[in-house]
Amino acid sequence: MEKFDLFKWVLCGSIVLFGVGCGRVDGLGVNWGTLATHKLPPKTVVQMLKDNGIQKVKLFDADRKTMSALAGSGIEVMVAIPNDQLAVMGSYDRAQEWVKKNVTAYNFTGGVNVKYVAVGNEPFLKSYNGSFVNTTLPALQNIQKALNEAGLGDTVKATVPLNADVYESPEDNPLPSAGTFRSDISDVMTQIVKFMAENNAPFTVNIYPFLSLYGNNDFPFNYAFFDGATPIVDKGIEYTNVFDANFDTLVSALKAVGHGNMTIIIGEVGWPTEGDINANNGNAYRFYNGLFTKLGANRGTPLRPGYIEVYLFGLIDEDAKSVAPGNFERHWGLFRYDGQPKFLIDLTGRGQNKLLIPAQNVEYQPQKWCTFNAGAKDVSKLVDNINFACTYADCTTLGYGSSCNSLDANGNASYAFNAYFQTQNQDPDSCNFQGLATVTTKNISQGSCNFTIQLVASSTSILRPLIVLTVISMAYTFLLQ
Ligand SMILES: *[C@@H]1O[C@H](CO)[C@@H](O)[C@H](O)[C@H]1NC(C)=O
Ligand SMILES: *[C@@H]1O[C@H](CO)[C@@H](O)[C@H](O)[C@H]1NC(C)=O
Ligand SMILES: *[C@@H]1O[C@H](CO)[C@@H](O)[C@H](O)[C@H]1NC(C)=O
Ligand SMILES: *[C@@H]1O[C@H](CO)[C@@H](O)[C@H](O)[C@H]1NC(C)=O
Ligand SMILES: *[C@@H]1O[C@H](CO)[C@@H](O)[C@H](O)[C@H]1NC(C)=O
Ligand SMILES: *[C@@H]1O[C@H](CO)[C@@H](O)[C@H](O)[C@H]1NC(C)=O
Ligand SMILES: *[C@@H]1O[C@H](CO)[C@@H](O)[C@H](O)[C@H]1NC(C)=O
Ligand SMILES: *[C@@H]1O[C@H](CO)[C@@H](O)[C@H](O)[C@H]1NC(C)=O
Repeated sequence: MEKFDLFKWVLCGSIVLFGVGCGRVDGLGVNWGTLATHKLPPKTVVQMLKDNGIQKVKLFDADRKTMSALAGSGIEVMVAIPNDQLAVMGSYDRAQEWVKKNVTAYNFTGGVNVKYVAVGNEPFLKSYNGSFVNTTLPALQNIQKALNEAGLGDTVKATVPLNADVYESPEDNPLPSAGTFRSDISDVMTQIVKFMAENNAPFTVNIYPFLSLYGNNDFPFNYAFFDGATPIVDKGIEYTNVFDANFDTLVSALKAVGHGNMTIIIGEVGWPTEGDINANNGNAYRFYNGLFTKLGANRGTPLRPGYIEVYLFGLIDEDAKSVAPGNFERHWGLFRYDGQPKFLIDLTGRGQNKLLIPAQNVEYQPQKWCTFNAGAKDVSKLVDNINFACTYADCTTLGYGSSCNSLDANGNASYAFNAYFQTQNQDPDSCNFQGLATVTTKNISQGSCNFTIQLVASSTSILRPLIVLTVISMAYTFLLQ
């Protein structure tokens, strides 16, 4: 049904005739996460999506301001119920209320084009220790039932975005054709698949070739990309990239529970640009270039040739995300924190490399930086102060493999102090650090390392960051090493 609407191309020459934007990409979606200390205004982001012809977006909640900005845009939206709300959705009344408030309420002309409700976000990740294993299916059932009763069930589908670790192949036969759901969750997965199939809902999976590479020195590097690697042969089928192999492992797992034809959506796929030796613009370019060439040609995978609905991860860097998975976690954006594109890209897969259109009318704080005061007499508290700054601000680009890793000790201090100062909206009191820091109007960026100026705080930005950042403060001990 959706098979033919991807990468439907309208040549630039016909814009005038048909009034359709050049560079339009039907079918390609993006994840719009908002865990940032300073967020671009939702309206600015929606304009950026439109300017780049992006017509599908996946959210991690159903925030009212975000939804208002999307209203009338025609952009297809996946709204979401966070994991911590899954348990309460076990009450049908509560699920009905959620659907009424966050889906039905937007179903009017000029409203929001909701297509999916994501029930949880990777709820069966191994690191959650089974916390959501009993609450996900009831929430899914109640939400879909509420959608159906509201008369929206034909157009709005409930799905569960799952991490690719919900399925696997046995160690002694690590091939796609041997894929099955993970044994500890195979019962619940079987029921979820059955329920979604009954409701014509798609299976949503997040696949990250970058993570296959990350922390795994034995992983064949080229296999993370799409431009040629030694094939791995599975029953006569050659796999030259881990994305296809991973996807087809899921196809086999679905087949094993009697639903080999179920529609599969890629809920997240992407490549980060900082925070690890393999996270950089060059590798991101190589990855996306291969991915889009493949998607643009509707090549699909060996077991599933054809169109795949894909949501890229992510739209914009998020400086307040947990770094538990790694420092790269805050750098998945196609765009920097301020809506500037990072690298050349061709969403069409036709080799027309260009920069995406940046966010318009972005408001920055004044041209002021906070720098280490080289004249400071007592530097005995320097490490404590850097650690404090990096507990509340993002210092991940200082780490190994990142753009600011070659700073000297003073540079490190300045970077940390400036990051904190910007996060605090350039409050003069936030650039003191026991006399170790001072404000300057000189751009103290060094080489490839940007000492960034933050955005003007929008009304929603002020209160949340500290709560999020406190949780991750432990992660910054790397600065003390
Ligand atoms: C609707 O979604 C918002 C944002 O995710 C959430 O805070 C709110 O509780 C939801 N409304 C209901 C009635 O559940
Ligand atoms: C409201 O929902 C119905 C049923 O899904 C759909 O057919 C219709 O297009 C929606 N209306 C608007 C204005 O979005
Ligand atoms: C899962 O278990 C590990 C080890 O027992 C623990 O460190 C971690 O905090 C737990 N995670 C959650 C989300 O409960
Ligand atoms: C889920 O249910 C099973 C069976 O009733 C129970 O053993 C398990 O402790 C429950 N898990 C959680 C996280 O509540
Ligand atoms: C899956 O689709 C193929 C091609 O349309 C069809 O031949 C096959 O019978 C289907 N299998 C199932 C299990 O529905
Ligand atoms: C500061 O200098 C860097 C490196 O030259 C440059 O990329 C950046 O745009 C400058 N920042 C501002 C706010 O002018
Ligand atoms: C630094 O900022 C400039 C624009 O001001 C940008 O072109 C460059 O890519 C940035 N470098 C990094 C490593 O982010
Ligand atoms: C600067 O900080 C980074 C990240 O903690 C560290 O790897 C590097 O060694 C530091 N440089 C100096 C000169 O202290």
